[in-house]
Amino acid sequence: MYPAADHVLRTFRNLVGTLPEAEKLKPQVILVAAGIVEYRNDTDRELAFRQESNFFYLSGCTTPSSYLIASYQHGTSLEKPSIELFIPKASLADMMWSVPPPSLEAANATHDVTRVINTESLTGAIETLVKSLPGALWHVLPRNSPQFPALSEDYLKPILSAEDGAVTDFYLLPALHRTRLIKDQDEVALIQHACDISSRAHETVMRVLGAAVKGAITHGAGAGVDRPLLPSEWLIQKEAEAEALFVASCRREGAVHQAYLPICASASRASTLHYCCNGGNDKEFAWGPVEPHDHKNSNSLCTGRELKPQVLLIDAGCEWSCYASDITRTMPIGNGGKFTEEGRAIYSLVLEMQTECMDILKPGLLWDSAHLLSHRVLVRGFQRLGIFKSPSSPGGGSWASEEAILASGITTAFYPHGLGHSLGHDVHDVPSASKPAVNPHIAENNAGIQLGHPTIYNFLRLRLPLEAGMVVTVEPGIYFSPHLLAAVRDSQLIDHEVLKRYESVGGVRIEDVVHITPNGVQNLTKVRSDVDWIEGVCSGAL
Ligand code: GLY
Ligand code: MN
Ligand code: MN
Repeated sequence: MYPAADHVLRTFRNLVGTLPEAEKLKPQVILVAAGIVEYRNDTDRELAFRQESNFFYLSGCTTPSSYLIASYQHGTSLEKPSIELFIPKASLADMMWSVPPPSLEAANATHDVTRVINTESLTGAIETLVKSLPGALWHVLPRNSPQFPALSEDYLKPILSAEDGAVTDFYLLPALHRTRLIKDQDEVALIQHACDISSRAHETVMRVLGAAVKGAITHGAGAGVDRPLLPSEWLIQKEAEAEALFVASCRREGAVHQAYLPICASASRASTLHYCCNGGNDKEFAWGPVEPHDHKNSNSLCTGRELKPQVLLIDAGCEWSCYASDITRTMPIGNGGKFTEEGRAIYSLVLEMQTECMDILKPGLLWDSAHLLSHRVLVRGFQRLGIFKSPSSPGGGSWASEEAILASGITTAFYPHGLGHSLGHDVHDVPSASKPAVNPHIAENNAGIQLGHPTIYNFLRLRLPLEAGMVVTVEPGIYFSPHLLAAVRDSQLIDHEVLKRYESVGGVRIEDVVHITPNGVQNLTKVRSDVDWIEGVCSGAL
């Protein structure tokens, strides 16, 4: 059973820890609402429903229009919270049109709460608690925010009209974020399951590309003309087909939602970090079928059919039981399913950035340090390839040293985002806990270490020392974005002739999900990323 009671207890403990002393000994009550089913304009049809993350965390309940009340008192018998879950009663209309909520009997047997009752008892339950816990501090999620389900004033009236009744939305969300940052074994198992399904979906796309290169996917009589293609006849000739195959693979394994819109980007579009909306995932690969011989390098931008893209970047992950996965693989397309020389060099460098960072991850390591290391490996790799000058370049000097290049901030033109982020219910999980507004860790740890340019950290979403139980992504990338490169076109740190050779690679990102353990990391991502395997599968050899 989903360990909701433990999540409630840990949330209360973190919450009490942040309260002013005068408030700590009061009874504490959490009142939260589930999400509601929304309807698309003038269709009478439901939009896909996904439970609000915090509500699920505290209840394990996926039924819309439910409520939860939990009460707790630090240092008393109430220290084991009492948790009441309120779910709607099935109406005849529910049964006729839709899937009804579970019966109370079924819900009581499957939820880790004190009791499950119907929402019609909610007002009475609030009134009873107001009387039995006088002076309690009631905690709700931020009010009037579109991010959280609305809590009707009617439910708050009995609290506010009581003598010394108090409702606050100041403490609960930070406490939830702080608690959700550290995952228990049940949560890791759910994230593992999401990662397993997504890993297979990534491999499926690669295997279909490889089968096409081998000529193993053929169209039967009438396919695509007199009748639609069958799944076995489906080539991947454009980004949309890669997306469709990825999503279909997850769905057939039971995943209802993707954790975010998949990003399927070929050629220079791979340099658009979140290439998915408003025309994203929507280009043909420019030549049609993936043929072994069909590859030609080009440094032009990917605007015309003459361009032969070298890589397809897929950043996609499904959700399982309200837990996300987030995996990126970059694979060769065209060229017989093998990377071009330039593509392999950039791919290998990104993999080196990831491997070197993975090797140092352990509890206590400030995430900033791993992020800085990924930039350092990029600088070394670019100096090796000749894209960046070095002290030994003709006319070079200490101005082109590794530290000088890091301090210049130029690496952000090629690698503008963070090394990774916390992952859990949400793909960029628990932002207020991951990157606290007041952050003593950064000031303390920065003393005396070489930090590189401050802009390196602009989009870093995790700025904490790692702790056992965190789940984070490790996702370095190298991109040749015309927009970002425009700012460094006259940089003396770059050999622009060498850079030109690599620009048509577009972009490479490799992203795995890892669990921080007491001794290091457990990689939850099963799909492989080594060059030999990727090329073996994408060329149809494996
Ligand atoms: N898929 C979004 C990210 O990797 O952060
Ligand atoms: Mn990510
Ligand atoms: Mn991602």
